[in-house]
Amino acid sequence: MKYDVVVIGSLNYDILIQQDRLPYIGETFIGNELLMMPGGKGANQAVQCAKLGLKVKFIGCIGNDIYGDELLKSLKNNNISTDNIYRRGSNSGIGVVQILESGDYCSTIIKGANYLLTKEDIKDTFFENSPLVIFQSEIPTEVVEYAISRAKFYSCKIIVNNAPARSIPAAILKQIDYLIINETEATFMANKYVEDINDAQMCAEELFKNNPSGTVIITLGENGAVFADANNVTHHPAVFCPQVIDTTGAGDSFIGGIAWSIIQNMPMNEAIPFAAAISTYSIQKYGGQSSFPMLSEVQHVLK
Ligand code: RIB
Repeated sequence: MKYDVVVIGSLNYDILIQQDRLPYIGETFIGNELLMMPGGKGANQAVQCAKLGLKVKFIGCIGNDIYGDELLKSLKNNNISTDNIYRRGSNSGIGVVQILESGDYCSTIIKGANYLLTKEDIKDTFFENSPLVIFQSEIPTEVVEYAISRAKFYSCKIIVNNAPARSIPAAILKQIDYLIINETEATFMANKYVEDINDAQMCAEELFKNNPSGTVIITLGENGAVFADANNVTHHPAVFCPQVIDTTGAGDSFIGGIAWSIIQNMPMNEAIPFAAAISTYSIQKYGGQSSFPMLSEVQHVLK
Protein backbone atom coordinates (compact mmCIF):
# COMPACT_ATOMS: atom_id res chain seq x y z
CA MET A 1 0.00 0.00 0.00
CA LYS A 2 1.28 3.49 -0.85
CA TYR A 3 1.15 6.27 1.74
CA ASP A 4 2.24 9.90 1.38
CA VAL A 5 3.48 9.90 4.94
CA VAL A 6 4.39 7.32 7.57
CA VAL A 7 4.42 8.66 11.14
CA ILE A 8 6.30 6.57 13.69
CA GLY A 9 5.59 8.08 17.07
CA SER A 10 3.58 8.75 20.17
CA LEU A 11 -0.07 8.79 21.13
CA ASN A 12 -1.01 10.45 24.44
CA TYR A 13 -4.38 11.08 25.95
CA ASP A 14 -4.19 14.74 26.98
CA ILE A 15 -5.58 16.24 30.17
CA LEU A 16 -5.60 19.99 29.61
CA ILE A 17 -6.01 22.36 32.53
CA GLN A 18 -6.69 26.01 31.81
CA GLN A 19 -5.29 28.03 34.71
CA ASP A 20 -4.23 31.65 35.29
CA ARG A 21 -0.70 30.75 36.36
CA LEU A 22 1.40 27.81 37.54
CA PRO A 23 1.15 26.99 41.26
CA TYR A 24 4.13 27.55 43.55
CA ILE A 25 5.69 24.53 45.28
CA GLY A 26 3.45 23.60 48.22
CA GLU A 27 0.53 25.66 46.92
CA THR A 28 -2.90 24.28 46.02
CA PHE A 29 -4.10 26.29 43.07
CA ILE A 30 -7.62 26.49 41.61
CA GLY A 31 -7.74 25.97 37.84
CA ASN A 32 -10.49 27.27 35.53
CA GLU A 33 -11.34 24.53 33.03
CA LEU A 34 -10.56 20.88 32.38
CA LEU A 35 -10.50 19.36 28.90
CA MET A 36 -9.58 15.79 27.93
CA MET A 37 -8.73 14.81 24.38
CA PRO A 38 -6.51 12.70 22.10
CA GLY A 39 -2.99 14.07 21.63
CA GLY A 40 0.66 13.06 21.56
CA LYS A 41 3.08 14.67 19.15
CA GLY A 42 3.05 11.73 16.74
CA ALA A 43 -0.72 11.42 16.60
CA ASN A 44 -1.16 15.20 16.33
CA GLN A 45 1.24 15.45 13.39
CA ALA A 46 -0.44 12.50 11.67
CA VAL A 47 -3.88 14.09 12.11
CA GLN A 48 -2.73 17.43 10.69
CA CYS A 49 -1.24 15.65 7.65
CA ALA A 50 -4.51 13.75 7.15
CA LYS A 51 -6.64 16.90 7.56
CA LEU A 52 -4.63 18.45 4.73
CA GLY A 53 -5.54 15.46 2.55
CA LEU A 54 -2.41 13.31 2.80
CA LYS A 55 -2.64 9.52 2.95
CA VAL A 56 -1.14 8.64 6.33
CA LYS A 57 0.00 5.47 8.09
CA PHE A 58 0.72 5.50 11.82
CA ILE A 59 3.06 3.17 13.71
CA GLY A 60 2.90 3.26 17.52
CA CYS A 61 1.69 1.68 20.74
CA ILE A 62 -1.35 2.28 22.97
CA GLY A 63 -2.41 0.60 26.20
CA ASN A 64 -5.35 -1.68 26.89
CA ASP A 65 -7.36 1.12 28.50
CA ILE A 66 -10.22 3.44 27.57
CA TYR A 67 -7.71 6.11 26.57
CA GLY A 68 -6.25 3.71 24.01
CA ASP A 69 -9.75 3.30 22.54
CA GLU A 70 -10.11 7.08 22.20
CA LEU A 71 -6.64 7.51 20.68
CA LEU A 72 -7.36 4.84 18.08
CA LYS A 73 -10.79 6.30 17.30
CA SER A 74 -9.35 9.73 16.64
CA LEU A 75 -6.86 8.43 14.07
CA LYS A 76 -9.49 6.24 12.41
CA ASN A 77 -11.89 9.20 12.23
CA ASN A 78 -9.21 11.02 10.27
CA ASN A 79 -8.78 8.09 7.84
CA ILE A 80 -5.29 7.24 9.10
CA SER A 81 -4.13 3.64 8.69
CA THR A 82 -3.94 2.11 12.18
CA ASP A 83 -3.08 -1.49 11.19
CA ASN A 84 0.31 -1.18 12.87
CA ILE A 85 -0.78 0.41 16.13
CA TYR A 86 -0.13 -2.21 18.80
CA ARG A 87 -2.03 -2.55 22.09
CA ARG A 88 0.40 -3.38 24.90
CA GLY A 89 0.41 -3.01 28.67
CA SER A 90 -2.28 -1.46 30.77
CA ASN A 91 -1.65 2.28 30.30
CA SER A 92 -1.62 4.49 27.25
CA GLY A 93 0.66 7.53 27.17
CA ILE A 94 -0.82 10.52 28.99
CA GLY A 95 -0.10 14.23 28.57
CA VAL A 96 -0.86 16.66 31.37
CA VAL A 97 -0.96 20.08 29.76
CA GLN A 98 -1.22 23.33 31.72
CA ILE A 99 -2.50 26.18 29.57
CA LEU A 100 -1.88 29.64 30.96
CA GLU A 101 -3.75 32.92 30.49
CA SER A 102 -1.40 33.90 27.62
CA GLY A 103 -2.22 30.69 25.71
CA ASP A 104 1.30 29.37 26.40
CA TYR A 105 1.50 25.90 27.84
CA CYS A 106 3.81 23.52 29.62
CA SER A 107 3.29 19.79 29.72
CA THR A 108 4.40 16.61 31.42
CA ILE A 109 4.03 13.33 29.62
CA ILE A 110 3.73 9.84 31.05
CA LYS A 111 5.39 7.44 28.58
CA GLY A 112 2.94 4.52 29.06
CA ALA A 113 2.62 2.22 26.06
CA ASN A 114 4.59 4.57 23.79
CA TYR A 115 7.75 3.04 25.24
CA LEU A 116 6.60 -0.52 24.48
CA LEU A 117 7.21 -0.04 20.74
CA THR A 118 10.23 -2.11 19.66
CA LYS A 119 12.61 -2.32 16.70
CA GLU A 120 10.91 -5.60 15.73
CA ASP A 121 7.70 -3.63 15.08
CA ILE A 122 9.43 -1.66 12.34
CA LYS A 123 8.96 -3.41 8.99
CA ASP A 124 10.71 -2.52 5.74
CA THR A 125 7.34 -2.63 3.96
CA PHE A 126 6.42 0.66 5.73
CA PHE A 127 9.07 2.45 3.70
CA GLU A 128 8.94 0.74 0.31
CA ASN A 129 6.24 2.99 -1.15
CA SER A 130 6.23 6.04 1.10
CA PRO A 131 8.24 9.14 0.26
CA LEU A 132 8.20 10.76 3.72
CA VAL A 133 8.59 9.48 7.30
CA ILE A 134 8.06 11.63 10.41
CA PHE A 135 9.53 11.02 13.88
CA GLN A 136 9.42 12.76 17.25
CA SER A 137 11.17 11.84 20.53
CA GLU A 138 8.33 10.38 22.60
CA ILE A 139 9.11 6.72 21.78
CA PRO A 140 12.31 4.74 22.54
CA THR A 141 15.48 6.20 21.02
CA GLU A 142 16.64 2.86 19.59
CA VAL A 143 13.36 2.46 17.69
CA VAL A 144 13.68 5.95 16.15
CA GLU A 145 17.32 5.40 15.20
CA TYR A 146 16.68 1.97 13.70
CA ALA A 147 13.63 3.17 11.75
CA ILE A 148 15.51 6.22 10.39
CA SER A 149 18.24 3.93 9.03
CA ARG A 150 15.71 1.59 7.40
CA ALA A 151 13.68 4.47 5.94
CA LYS A 152 16.85 6.02 4.54
CA PHE A 153 17.74 2.69 2.92
CA TYR A 154 14.50 3.07 0.93
CA SER A 155 15.36 6.72 0.08
CA CYS A 156 12.50 8.15 2.14
CA LYS A 157 12.79 11.79 3.18
CA ILE A 158 13.02 12.09 6.96
CA ILE A 159 11.49 14.72 9.25
CA VAL A 160 12.64 14.58 12.87
CA ASN A 161 10.88 16.76 15.42
CA ASN A 162 13.31 16.27 18.30
CA ALA A 163 10.70 16.92 20.99
CA PRO A 164 11.20 16.47 23.86
CA ALA A 165 14.86 17.16 23.01
CA ARG A 166 17.39 14.39 23.39
CA SER A 167 20.90 13.82 22.01
CA ILE A 168 21.06 12.56 18.43
CA PRO A 169 24.27 10.70 17.42
CA ALA A 170 26.16 12.27 14.49
CA ALA A 171 25.55 9.22 12.25
CA ILE A 172 21.77 9.55 12.74
CA LEU A 173 21.76 13.35 12.42
CA LYS A 174 23.34 12.99 8.96
CA GLN A 175 20.33 11.00 7.77
CA ILE A 176 17.75 13.64 8.72
CA ASP A 177 16.45 15.78 5.87
CA TYR A 178 14.38 18.17 8.00
CA LEU A 179 15.26 18.70 11.65
CA ILE A 180 12.38 20.72 13.16
CA ILE A 181 12.70 22.01 16.73
CA ASN A 182 11.50 24.92 18.88
CA GLU A 183 13.69 27.33 20.83
CA THR A 184 13.74 25.11 23.96
CA GLU A 185 14.85 22.08 21.96
CA ALA A 186 17.38 24.22 20.05
CA THR A 187 18.83 25.40 23.37
CA PHE A 188 19.33 21.75 24.37
CA MET A 189 20.81 20.69 21.03
CA ALA A 190 23.18 23.64 20.66
CA ASN A 191 23.99 23.79 24.38
CA LYS A 192 23.48 27.55 24.40
CA TYR A 193 20.45 29.77 25.00
CA VAL A 194 18.21 30.36 21.99
CA GLU A 195 15.99 33.24 22.99
CA ASP A 196 15.66 35.46 19.94
CA ILE A 197 15.86 35.43 16.14
CA ASN A 198 19.58 36.15 16.14
CA ASP A 199 20.34 33.27 18.54
CA ALA A 200 18.15 30.97 16.43
CA GLN A 201 19.93 31.94 13.21
CA MET A 202 23.32 31.17 14.75
CA CYS A 203 22.02 27.93 16.23
CA ALA A 204 20.43 26.79 12.94
CA GLU A 205 23.67 27.50 11.12
CA GLU A 206 25.64 25.50 13.69
CA LEU A 207 23.24 22.54 13.66
CA PHE A 208 23.26 22.61 9.87
CA LYS A 209 27.07 22.22 9.85
CA ASN A 210 26.59 18.80 11.48
CA ASN A 211 24.36 17.72 8.61
CA PRO A 212 25.12 19.73 5.45
CA SER A 213 22.89 17.58 3.24
CA GLY A 214 19.84 18.29 5.43
CA THR A 215 17.93 21.36 6.59
CA VAL A 216 17.06 22.85 9.98
CA ILE A 217 13.91 24.72 11.02
CA ILE A 218 13.73 26.40 14.44
CA THR A 219 10.23 27.60 15.36
CA LEU A 220 10.05 30.67 17.59
CA GLY A 221 6.34 31.15 18.32
CA GLU A 222 5.34 34.78 17.78
CA ASN A 223 8.84 35.45 16.39
CA GLY A 224 8.24 33.16 13.42
CA ALA A 225 10.79 30.57 12.30
CA VAL A 226 14.37 30.33 11.12
CA PHE A 227 15.41 28.03 8.29
CA ALA A 228 18.91 26.87 7.36
CA ASP A 229 19.93 25.02 4.21
CA ALA A 230 23.00 24.81 1.98
CA ASN A 231 22.34 28.26 0.52
CA ASN A 232 21.25 30.43 3.39
CA VAL A 233 19.86 31.01 6.85
CA THR A 234 16.55 32.84 6.55
CA HIS A 235 13.99 34.24 8.98
CA HIS A 236 10.26 33.88 8.30
CA PRO A 237 7.89 36.06 10.37
CA ALA A 238 4.90 34.60 12.20
CA VAL A 239 1.39 35.02 10.83
CA PHE A 240 -0.66 37.61 12.79
CA CYS A 241 -2.94 35.98 15.34
CA PRO A 242 -5.86 38.09 16.63
CA GLN A 243 -6.37 36.01 19.78
CA VAL A 244 -4.16 33.25 21.19
CA ILE A 245 -6.30 30.71 23.08
CA ASP A 246 -4.09 27.62 23.38
CA THR A 247 -0.74 26.85 21.76
CA THR A 248 -0.90 23.08 22.54
CA GLY A 249 -0.02 21.20 19.36
CA ALA A 250 0.90 24.36 17.40
CA GLY A 251 4.30 22.87 16.59
CA ASP A 252 2.62 19.64 15.49
CA SER A 253 0.27 21.42 13.09
CA PHE A 254 3.29 23.34 11.71
CA ILE A 255 5.00 20.01 10.99
CA GLY A 256 1.85 18.72 9.27
CA GLY A 257 1.99 21.81 7.05
CA ILE A 258 5.66 21.25 6.22
CA ALA A 259 4.96 17.58 5.41
CA TRP A 260 2.10 18.54 3.08
CA SER A 261 4.34 21.09 1.34
CA ILE A 262 7.14 18.54 0.86
CA ILE A 263 4.68 16.15 -0.80
CA GLN A 264 3.57 19.02 -3.11
CA ASN A 265 7.28 19.76 -3.92
CA MET A 266 6.80 23.27 -2.61
CA PRO A 267 9.98 25.27 -1.93
CA MET A 268 10.66 25.95 1.77
CA ASN A 269 10.28 29.73 1.38
CA GLU A 270 6.61 29.02 0.54
CA ALA A 271 6.22 25.97 2.81
CA ILE A 272 7.22 27.78 6.01
CA PRO A 273 4.65 30.64 5.70
CA PHE A 274 1.98 28.06 4.82
CA ALA A 275 2.85 25.90 7.84
CA ALA A 276 2.94 29.04 10.02
CA ALA A 277 -0.57 29.97 8.86
CA ILE A 278 -1.76 26.48 9.80
CA SER A 279 -0.34 26.65 13.31
CA THR A 280 -1.75 30.17 13.77
CA TYR A 281 -5.17 28.77 12.87
CA SER A 282 -4.73 26.01 15.47
CA ILE A 283 -3.91 28.31 18.40
CA GLN A 284 -7.22 30.14 18.17
CA LYS A 285 -9.09 27.19 19.72
CA TYR A 286 -8.48 24.89 22.69
CA GLY A 287 -6.82 21.53 22.17
CA GLY A 288 -4.61 19.87 19.61
CA GLN A 289 -6.12 17.65 16.93
CA SER A 290 -9.61 19.18 17.05
CA SER A 291 -8.18 22.69 16.55
CA PHE A 292 -6.21 21.78 13.41
CA PRO A 293 -7.53 23.08 10.06
CA MET A 294 -8.64 21.11 7.01
CA LEU A 295 -6.95 22.08 3.72
CA SER A 296 -10.08 23.99 2.63
CA GLU A 297 -9.76 26.22 5.72
CA VAL A 298 -6.22 27.34 4.91
CA GLN A 299 -6.11 27.06 1.13
CA HIS A 300 -6.59 30.83 0.72
CA VAL A 301 -3.07 31.28 2.14
CA LEU A 302 -1.65 29.55 -0.93
CA LYS A 303 -3.21 32.02 -3.38
O1 RIB B 1 2.81 18.87 21.12
C1 RIB B 1 1.72 18.74 21.98
C2 RIB B 1 1.66 17.36 22.54
O2 RIB B 1 2.81 17.15 23.32
C3 RIB B 1 0.50 17.09 23.45
O3 RIB B 1 -0.59 16.56 22.73
C4 RIB B 1 1.07 16.17 24.51
O4 RIB B 1 0.50 14.90 24.54
C5 RIB B 1 2.57 16.10 24.21
O5 RIB B 1 2.92 14.94 23.55
